[in-house]
Amino acid sequence: MDFQLKTLTVAQAAAEKSDVLIVLVGSAPITSKDPLSVLAASARKAGDLPDKAGKLLGLYRPEDVVAGRVVLAAIGDGKPASVRTGVVAAVNAAKAQAPKRVTLAFAQPADGAAVAAAVTAAADASYVYTTTKSKAEPRSIRQLTVGVADAGAVSAAFDEARATVRGIELAKEWGNRPANHATPTLLGEAAKELAKLPNVKCEVLGPKEVEKLGMGSFAAVAQGSAQPLRFIVLRYHGAPRSQAPVVLVGKGITFDTGGVSLKPAAEMDEMKFDMCGAASVLGTFRALGDIQPAINVVGLIPSCENMNDGRAVKPGDVVTSMSGQTIEVLNTDAEGRLILCDALTYAKRFEPAAVIDIATLTGACVIALGGVRSGLFASDDTLAAALEAAGEASQDRCWRMPLDDDYAEGLKSNFADVANIAGRAGGAITAAKFLQRFTSDFAWAHLDIAGTAWKSGAAKGSTGRPVGLLVSYLMGRAGSADAAGKADGAKAKSGKKAGKAAAAPAGKTRTEK
Ligand code: BES
Ligand code: MN
Ligand code: ZN
Repeated sequence: MDFQLKTLTVAQAAAEKSDVLIVLVGSAPITSKDPLSVLAASARKAGDLPDKAGKLLGLYRPEDVVAGRVVLAAIGDGKPASVRTGVVAAVNAAKAQAPKRVTLAFAQPADGAAVAAAVTAAADASYVYTTTKSKAEPRSIRQLTVGVADAGAVSAAFDEARATVRGIELAKEWGNRPANHATPTLLGEAAKELAKLPNVKCEVLGPKEVEKLGMGSFAAVAQGSAQPLRFIVLRYHGAPRSQAPVVLVGKGITFDTGGVSLKPAAEMDEMKFDMCGAASVLGTFRALGDIQPAINVVGLIPSCENMNDGRAVKPGDVVTSMSGQTIEVLNTDAEGRLILCDALTYAKRFEPAAVIDIATLTGACVIALGGVRSGLFASDDTLAAALEAAGEASQDRCWRMPLDDDYAEGLKSNFADVANIAGRAGGAITAAKFLQRFTSDFAWAHLDIAGTAWKSGAAKGSTGRPVGLLVSYLMGRAGSADAAGKADGAKAKSGKKAGKAAAAPAGKTRTEK
């Protein structure tokens, strides 16, 4: 889908060549005197277009409009969440006619956040998965034109939203692909494909290299599978090399049977989504490649299958992680933390400003927060606050959970330094406490996306979350890095060399550490 931003009044939007025209109508009085605005105002007055986000009024071939169909969509207060509700409803209604060209016009002034919400919502509502269907009917919309009163004022937000959509859709694609079409090897190839984007580099390690690194925990999960593991290292360089990167670590279990601690059969197919953390890292890099912000980012993806096999790791086995800590594998279904811990240890070599892991880690997180908010765990308050704010701004929300040391009690083992499970109680938190043992060298946050990465039931499919949150967070950092960079430039002129600490987004990095 191709997105375009134009300066359009409602009258100009009516003259746009398109199959469906969607007019977004907010609570403010409609004062324009063009035919459509007059119509919208009288519908509002008559109660036929209630002032409630998501309410619609469909028109067929109204006079003075090029598009054959018009949908008036209420967006209430015009805030991003209301715009999203209105646009999703309108695009869903418009979809029945399989329109190729859609114009989406704001009847009242809209800010960048509202425009971004409209772009991501329109993409979400029209997305169609096609890869493994023999007679796929792809998304009908080819071109979406967004009309606003002043395109110049919102063009940066629009560009960022368009790039975010590309990232979300890449994450959806890999999340939705069945496990036999999304093996660790194929994920590695998808990552290499991203290295074609400017300032993106990719390296993919295999079993021998991973063994050499001493990643005994990751290797133990992979050993029951016929598919060789992959360890993907992505780098985006948008700032001077001296600037400390943010490291994103994505869980890439391409299928989770539970291993010897086998999962029940019902809904086990959904464990193809167990690589959605990895997919969100790929999606974020897709967006970075488009936006080219002034930051450095590293993406790490440990990827393998968790299978039941004669060679598979067994309950009670003790494995040695890259950190040197030994782990008693009491339950082979708690495999996510076993691959993530080695990736977290590997992250240290980048001397990161912050490390964020993203994982479909626990069923317990689904019970705690459902599908609305991702679980956020953080050892650093500044980092936590920035991620919470990014979640709100992108409507890809998260909720901070506790990390008291008391929660780690149950992870004690008689035969190793730590066990990979505690009791059932507080399962999302005990999983996070396990990961925290491998993060003492940097500011760290963990997003448990088990409830938010995909939908079950009739709407089964990947959501592309939390690409929106991650892009928003990184763009926030790029903004503050810019400011710090300017300050550093001034310092450099005064004769001091801009070293690592100076070139990094100074204040922020230090408080996060
Ligand atoms: N991938 C699952 C987590 C999961 C389960 C996500 C259901 C979404 C829906 C993870 O590897 C897992 O199996 N976790 C176990 C941990 C337990 C054995 C301590 C779980 O949550 O049941
Ligand atoms: Mn599991
Ligand atoms: Zn899993």
